[in-house]
Amino acid sequence: MSDIDFEKFGKYSKPGPRYTSYPTALEFSDAFNYERYIELLSEPSEQKLSIYIHLPFCRSACYFCGCNVVFTSKEEKLQRYVEYLKKEIDILSTYLDTKREIIQFHFGGGTPTYYDAKSIDEIVTHIKNVFPNWSEDAEISCEIDPRFFNEEQMQVFARHGFNRISFGVQDFDEKVQEEIHRVQPYEITQKAVKLAREYGIDSINIDLIYGLPFQNFESFKKTLALVLTLNPDRLAVFNYAHVPWLKKTMRKFDETTLPHPSIKLEIFKYTIDFFESNGYNMVGMDHFAKPQDELFTAIQKGELHRNFQGYTTKGGAMLVGIGLTSIGEGERHYAQNTKDMKLYEAAIDSGKLPFERGIELSMDDLIRKAVIMELMANFSIDIERTEERFDIDFQTYFCDALEELKTFQDAELIEMDTKKIQANKTGTMLIRNIAMPFDAYMNKYKANKKSFSKTV
Ligand SMILES: C[S@@+](CC[C@H](N)C(=O)[O-])C[C@H]1O[C@@H](n2cnc3c(N)ncnc32)[C@H](O)[C@@H]1O
Ligand code: SF4
Repeated sequence: MSDIDFEKFGKYSKPGPRYTSYPTALEFSDAFNYERYIELLSEPSEQKLSIYIHLPFCRSACYFCGCNVVFTSKEEKLQRYVEYLKKEIDILSTYLDTKREIIQFHFGGGTPTYYDAKSIDEIVTHIKNVFPNWSEDAEISCEIDPRFFNEEQMQVFARHGFNRISFGVQDFDEKVQEEIHRVQPYEITQKAVKLAREYGIDSINIDLIYGLPFQNFESFKKTLALVLTLNPDRLAVFNYAHVPWLKKTMRKFDETTLPHPSIKLEIFKYTIDFFESNGYNMVGMDHFAKPQDELFTAIQKGELHRNFQGYTTKGGAMLVGIGLTSIGEGERHYAQNTKDMKLYEAAIDSGKLPFERGIELSMDDLIRKAVIMELMANFSIDIERTEERFDIDFQTYFCDALEELKTFQDAELIEMDTKKIQANKTGTMLIRNIAMPFDAYMNKYKANKKSFSKTV
């Protein structure tokens, strides 16, 4: 059995940010304006680049989906968006130094492979023409829905050096699949994984979700056994974030069919034991990877990073978000593109980037961001390193947070001394709770229970 103390979980289940950014997206506003964004983009810098391109289209809605998606079956809509993406990249190149080195590239969605091979090729070729300096060991990845994936697309990915693929599965149970409106027989996923392997992809991730309607312990056990036969290199097992006040399709679920928190816990406990006894290690709250995976050496050195796409060993790059809703992240800012297709097109037609809002980080934000991100990625804080980096006295600067953390210390979720704060395995699973005392905006959210999904 895993050495995680699940008895503690009930007490800590409360709404909280996932901290893919700090400050969270709720703090983004138009106080950070276009002119300032352009100034920051144009600053000369040696910082390497990580490029994210959002391809928002899906054929039909998976009812659980919390992503930024546009549903369509119209071919012309898809092609039109490619033309706009290319123009956005061109506008970007007038501000951002195109000689900067690219160490990471990611296609996210939506369903990127809703696009055919020719369109995918067109987008990647364009970005490579405009930003030609790609590092030899760049991480190049794509999210793929196995129901929309063929060999021509894989050939394009292979030709452009893609080396990571993440497949969405969620659950293999037929009843669950019908209920979530995503029928995806095992054979389809098996074929997709085989195809990626044949073309030399040696980092394959599979996404699962627990907490979906009609899931139960027995059904999920079967799903896990099937997933194992696919031999993925990494797995993400997400806790279903149920936010029907934000996402209409989630309202289609009869909430009485959602598994009770105690069942979810039982499912997750089993999942951890299952993967750990089958040669995987747990990374953070919801990821698993094989022990030889670079994620582990990075954790040991305290060098794991987290960004909008999850965990990565490639930290310190400037993230450039391209496409509808994409978020970019620089040393001192976050910038988000508009979510509205008409505004997106109008901005580009007028020769502007489709930027909508963001935030320029104050010194206090930067210090808290560093601490929260270190906790979220490495589950520890190196106090001396933080003091040196920001020229602060940690005990004084964070005296309120440290006071709050004592309850986690008393509950044996963290160990804390003057040099280090370290979460243990149970604490790792509650890392969002442990990060919250460092969040200066938290008091503002406490009154509004509907800001975030639940931490457990
Ligand atoms: C943007 S989707 C892209 C993957 C691709 N479109 C597919 O469905 O295969 C990325 C992942 O987010 C996860 N996800 C989406 N909505 C979620 C939710 N409400 N709660 C937890 N995870 C969710 C799913 O596991 C999904 O595979
Ligand atoms: S889970 Fe993937 S395929 Fe389903 S609606 Fe969301 S983005 Fe589209």
